[in-house]
Amino acid sequence: MLVLGIETSCDETAAAVVDEGGRVLSDVVHSQIALHAPYGGVVPELASRDHLRLARPVVEAALERAGVALSDLDGIAVTCCPGLAGALLVGVQLASGLAWAADKPLVGVDHLVGHLLAVFLRHPGQPSAPPDFPFIALLASGGHTALYHVAGPWLERVTELGATRDDAAGEAFDKVAKLLGLGYPGGPIIDRLAREGDPEAIPLSRPMAGRRTLEFSFSGLKTQVMRYVAEHGAPGNDQRLRDLCAAFQRRVVESLVSQALRACEQEGCPSLVLAGGVAGNSALRALAEEQGARRGVRVVVPAMVSCTDNAAMIALAGLQRLARGDDDRGALVTSPRTQLERVTRKGRGLR
Ligand code: KG4
Ligand code: ZN
Repeated sequence: MLVLGIETSCDETAAAVVDEGGRVLSDVVHSQIALHAPYGGVVPELASRDHLRLARPVVEAALERAGVALSDLDGIAVTCCPGLAGALLVGVQLASGLAWAADKPLVGVDHLVGHLLAVFLRHPGQPSAPPDFPFIALLASGGHTALYHVAGPWLERVTELGATRDDAAGEAFDKVAKLLGLGYPGGPIIDRLAREGDPEAIPLSRPMAGRRTLEFSFSGLKTQVMRYVAEHGAPGNDQRLRDLCAAFQRRVVESLVSQALRACEQEGCPSLVLAGGVAGNSALRALAEEQGARRGVRVVVPAMVSCTDNAAMIALAGLQRLARGDDDRGALVTSPRTQLERVTRKGRGLR
């Protein structure tokens, strides 16, 4: 089975071809980072226009690199939610046009389900074997931060266990980086600077410390950094900057890891998958692996390229739906919200 995936939900125009074994035949990502960088965040109107300009050439490049024609495909998958309304429409319209023209089935994919299944993509040199279902997934990206119980590769088998009450983890990285004048996106920059910093040199308190919860909160930590800068002045490009980055990152990562391992314990799941752009964070990977090993939890992390936004994860999630005969042609709607609704599981110790 060969599936073309198309992703335009935010600031990446991406297309990929994936087969039924999760092998990535092509994976083309055009990032709009340079376009949005002067504004310190994504400008929706600019994003839509750039998708419009590049969606078709990106799809053509994905087919060409995979060595397949539209007629060789078994179906097309496209991100239909969550995301920027105008940006989503560009991908969905292109995918619909291609599906009707080539008479191929078309399925809409929730971007978050794509992130959760990215760990099954087989890239050359993939570091570890994929987990068995069910597993716990920590999804931490620029727009979302939540814990999920994943019982199967379809939306209906995914249950949200807890989410952030305010900022997403990636958003907190980006906002703190903006505050410190470091550029966009902030996550990779803070990650790099923090490697040379002392995480205990500047006292910041851990979000939700001492609470037995599966929820997250990062806006208070961001405020602590703002207060520090107001009181002590913005650090220059010096050791104090590295220490501040290290302290902020350590508190975010401790919170993510402690809640994720609590979810594994409460649900009796021995596998934890890290997903989303923040899963590329070196300190998060290291702490999750160290603490997971102590608590008998296997931590599985997708290849770096599969953590950030890409279309291979959309193709793979779509493949699961196409394989059972789903076809959304003529019925595909876009939404800024995820379809993964929050569920309270009574009697399972979850609030
Ligand atoms: O999943 P993603 O590519 O896009 C969304 O769906 O949001 O995630 C992007 C987010 C950005 O906020 C970026 O700062 C963050 O992931 N990020 C990181 C790292 N690499 C990307 N955050 C911390 N450490 C990193 N190494
Ligand atoms: Zn994403």
